[in-house]
Amino acid sequence: MTAQVTSVEAGNVPPAELDRPVQDGRAPAEPAALLRAWMPADDDPDRPLATLATVDDDGVPDARTVLVSAIDDTSVAIHTDADSRKARQMRARPVAALVVRWPDTARQIVLRGPVRRDTADGERAAFARRSRYLQLLASINSDDMAVRARAEREAALARFDAAHADPPMPPTWAGFRLLPDEIAFWEGAERGPSRRVRYTRDGAGWSREYVAG
Ligand SMILES: Cc1cc2nc3c(=O)[nH]c(=O)nc-3n(C[C@H](O)[C@H](O)[C@H](O)COP(=O)(O)O)c2cc1C
Repeated sequence: MTAQVTSVEAGNVPPAELDRPVQDGRAPAEPAALLRAWMPADDDPDRPLATLATVDDDGVPDARTVLVSAIDDTSVAIHTDADSRKARQMRARPVAALVVRWPDTARQIVLRGPVRRDTADGERAAFARRSRYLQLLASINSDDMAVRARAEREAALARFDAAHADPPMPPTWAGFRLLPDEIAFWEGAERGPSRRVRYTRDGAGWSREYVAG
């Protein structure tokens, strides 16, 4: 009898053919190469989703889903509205955690560390890469709009769409780059336990340890 993979187990078991640097103890000395291997290339239009955790003024954690919109060897960027709660929280307390998960490959990356505002060029590039629908939303998805009826909201989007061949980047468009000082790569397994390799910034380099999944 073939065992049924339940939703509880889904995401814990990697495909048989997948490379497993964490399970096999082949994690590189520094995290950048693994980040490049697991994340899509910066110009890949298929962006991973992530959970972005921030801290409010009272020290209470907050979290929401965002698109990972840019990646380089030292940072991972998300883009949003400068007036949003997450943006206000990151300005007041410039730290965050980002969780990226790929259920199909039983992988997860957790990044923690300081955040800083993206450069103007980075913000423009991230906006240019957004789909047309997301570009339009960036301009019209306001709290004023949220209290209106659905038909009104749909009509507003249609009007804005018709009026802009090239949707403008709103003045409140903002990017934040998380510069991790800790990165953990998690790998599931079909037989043995899940395992992580955790990198912690150590002076100019990184220390690396294997920890339980
Ligand atoms: C699949 C998905 C992708 C999302 N991507 C983004 C994003 O890239 N940027 C963003 O600001 N909000 C994004 N959102 C909306 C956020 O989850 C959130 O509701 C919104 O940004 C307000 O968050 P805040 O009030 O904590 O600032 C996304 C939501 C979902 C479900």
